[in-house]
Amino acid sequence: MTETDIKKGLAGVVVDTTAVSKVNPETNSLLYRGYPVQELAASCSFEQVALLLWNGELPSDSELAEFTAFERSHRALSPELKQIIDALPATCHPMDVCRTAASVLGAQDPTAEDSSREANLAKAKSLLAAMPAVVAYDQRRRRGQELVEPRDDLGYAQNFLWMTFGEEAAPPVVEAFNVSMILYAEHSFNASTFTARVITSTLADLHSAVVGAIGALKGPLHGGANEAVMHTFDEIGIRQEETAEEAEARAKAWMDDALAQKKKVMGFGHRVYKNGDSRVPTMKAALDAMIEHYDRPELLGLYNGLEKSMGEAKNIKPNLDYPAGPAYHLMGFDTPTFTPLFVASRISGWTAHIMEQLESNALIRPLSAYNGPDERHVS
Ligand code: CMC
Repeated sequence: MTETDIKKGLAGVVVDTTAVSKVNPETNSLLYRGYPVQELAASCSFEQVALLLWNGELPSDSELAEFTAFERSHRALSPELKQIIDALPATCHPMDVCRTAASVLGAQDPTAEDSSREANLAKAKSLLAAMPAVVAYDQRRRRGQELVEPRDDLGYAQNFLWMTFGEEAAPPVVEAFNVSMILYAEHSFNASTFTARVITSTLADLHSAVVGAIGALKGPLHGGANEAVMHTFDEIGIRQEETAEEAEARAKAWMDDALAQKKKVMGFGHRVYKNGDSRVPTMKAALDAMIEHYDRPELLGLYNGLEKSMGEAKNIKPNLDYPAGPAYHLMGFDTPTFTPLFVASRISGWTAHIMEQLESNALIRPLSAYNGPDERHVS
């Protein structure tokens, strides 16, 4: 094998089939089980989309009602898990809390070692229902606030915001949050999903695969980019008194400088899409709605300035994390909580892939080309 045979980062390598989603960079489209993600975001709840990813079809009214009842009755943070979260230092990253919580939920699940589809689907539903309380409570405890109990009269998105902020969110905020959850739900063989499939291929349990996926998502080249985008905005400086034009000019200057220094700017570029991320227009519309709702035009200026400068200098387009970061900021989430929001959503896609992997499993075990010293001996 020569070095040219090696596909660094598995770029361009097709490793398996999947029926969960289809990314088509040529047509700039993303389909979940055949449905364009934009259509799902426009007309479905996140709960419906999760069922679509797991089952392959959009749910009937009765299937949705059954899942809704299940999800609402599995939202509360158990006292044991709360105690474990409380024992973690507030200095640790919220993704560490998510990762720990997913592991604890696995250890607490009496069916953890049952890898039948039925058991795994139940575990997937439980994890999806439980994670918002973890994310919401972790943000609250860092702010010195008490746990807010879930409300079973609210949908998933509305309740997530309720548990985080202790007040009912305005309809446009719920709508934008629901859209973000749908857009983050699934994206074929990205790094975290592939990690989940690798772990599953060893026949380890579902929670182990999700814990590994959370670890992979944490990095700034993957899910951690939504948090990193906000750090960029903070570094440029958010000045509420500025006009959009003033903010745009400062952002452009910042980007020109960053690119001159050959910096990688998070929230831009994609391994698969080279001509723009299919999810961006929908999330940008959600961000625009938030900018209007909170009357924060200077954020649009920063957004436009970075995007224009990057486009002009390198023709690199934003990815989903770029509009998602400032949208979550406007909703009131603390920056380190952004990637845990991605986790809460992506649990649906990860678990759909875990179940698919088990349907026709083959241990994932690639080869490497050795380039260390030739054989040698101790004496
Ligand atoms: N800022 C500046 N330059 C970039 C960027 C960027 N964000 N992305 C790519 N480039 C340049 C890179 O420097 C390189 O230039 P050159 O050929 O002159 O050395 C060229 O574009 C190719 O980049 P690459 O990193 O080799 O390409 P890749 O396909 O491995 O990268 C990527 C994909 C997502 C890792 C990369 O675009 C990146 O690091 N982006 C920033 C992190 C980010 O936003 N990640 C979120 C990805 S999408 C959502 C998700 O999965 O969470």
